[in-house]
Amino acid sequence: MAKTKSAYFCQNCGYESAKWMGKCPSCNEWNTFIEEVLDRTPSKVPAWKSASALQRQNKPTRVDEIRTIREERITTGDQELDRVLGGGLVPGSVILIGGEPGIGKSTLMLQLALTIQAKKVLYVSGEESEQQIRMRAERITSSAVTDCYILTETLTQNIFKQIEPLAPQLVIVDSIQTLHSSHVDATPGSVSQVRECAAELLRFAKETDTPVFLIGHITKDGAIAGPKILEHMVDTVLQFEGDRHHVYRILRSVKNRFGAAAEMGIYAMHGNGLRQVTNPSEILLLQREDNLSGIAIAATLEGARPMLIETQALVSAAAYGTPQRSANGFDTKRMNMLLAVLEKRCGFRLSSRDVFLNIAGGIKVEDPAIDLAIVVAIISSHEDIAVPAKTCFAAEVGLSGEIRAVNRVEQRISEAEKLGFEKIFISSYNLKGILRDKYKIEIVAVGKIEDVFSALFG
Ligand code: TYD
Ligand code: MG
Repeated sequence: MAKTKSAYFCQNCGYESAKWMGKCPSCNEWNTFIEEVLDRTPSKVPAWKSASALQRQNKPTRVDEIRTIREERITTGDQELDRVLGGGLVPGSVILIGGEPGIGKSTLMLQLALTIQAKKVLYVSGEESEQQIRMRAERITSSAVTDCYILTETLTQNIFKQIEPLAPQLVIVDSIQTLHSSHVDATPGSVSQVRECAAELLRFAKETDTPVFLIGHITKDGAIAGPKILEHMVDTVLQFEGDRHHVYRILRSVKNRFGAAAEMGIYAMHGNGLRQVTNPSEILLLQREDNLSGIAIAATLEGARPMLIETQALVSAAAYGTPQRSANGFDTKRMNMLLAVLEKRCGFRLSSRDVFLNIAGGIKVEDPAIDLAIVVAIISSHEDIAVPAKTCFAAEVGLSGEIRAVNRVEQRISEAEKLGFEKIFISSYNLKGILRDKYKIEIVAVGKIEDVFSALFG
């Protein structure tokens, strides 16, 4: 009888241990270890023809002697997705797409499966029935459906059995947490199952040059549920995020072996699927005639794409003893830091005030260049003076109240000018190399927060 071997895995990060532990030494989480039975008896036939890996023996090759194949990319027909992937799909790459439940991962992937041109696609679903997928497909596209096949199956060995005769050119798996392999005796979604299934799909992708998309669930704190190791195994990790109550969704690349990370794509969720948003600035700026206090526009850059976003602040007297601080789309810790800077360096009494922040469109911005707009919005609300129209901001704010330089400021200035802004505030450290005469927009260079306020509010 084959000996069964078991080990304990941290369900949070995938750390493996021979014995149970209360606290994971790797990620410091408590009570995350679960025993999983491993079956590593080598006699079993490996899943995706991996016997060839044993027969094939690679020799070391000098790097300049390696034959280079020009990297060809498959365009997906979705401009936003292509950009996030770094210019299209790379054959044989494995892409993990994570996101909270209900954000639209299945919709995005099904839409890709239905619209990609001249490619045979297999959509493997362990979550929904064929009828459900068909209904969704009808909702998304009106045109005749292309070469898209749906398979509802969760055992990887069976999936590969179906893949062989079908020979799809793109495989989508929804989701990796529902799959299981007969090589591992653990429940679907557990660390060893997820790892084994991902490894089998990875082998399949590399050996057949077929790109594979894996949908992955996300835990409360934003990590891909189950093992963190999944992120190390795949080539690209994309994150699909947004506020479920807003229409906008952001696809962000967190890791990309074939392109720049920090690229982003924007979609809008409609009744008939996701629409690409090719000109984000125009929607993120709410068009308003009258000037209200507490609003400032930030010229941000996400990946390579400039984007002007409205930031809103509401400062009011705290109704109860402890003032409330809450931010939507902005890091609360960073907001507290900016409030402290305003209090200590500029003498604004904010410690007894409630402060609420909001970024238009329910979008989360990571670019630090949004700082100055946030600070201006807070003071504008505090003093109840509106920021002059057609003015925007692009700078980071430091702990001593200094206005710090941001990257690619020219790109931000050009975008602001294109959208009809007349004035942009940047850091004086950003001035070097900028030809002010080139722009119609007025460039105001500032070094300290006080300079900004005196220029704005007098
Ligand atoms: P879904 O793709 O199932 O999310 P996930 O796979 O990430 O869990 O998206 C579900 C949500 O999207 C659901 O709340 C309904 C909404 N939706 C639309 O608004 N329009 C559509 O055309 C579709 C298909 C879904
Ligand atoms: Mg889904």
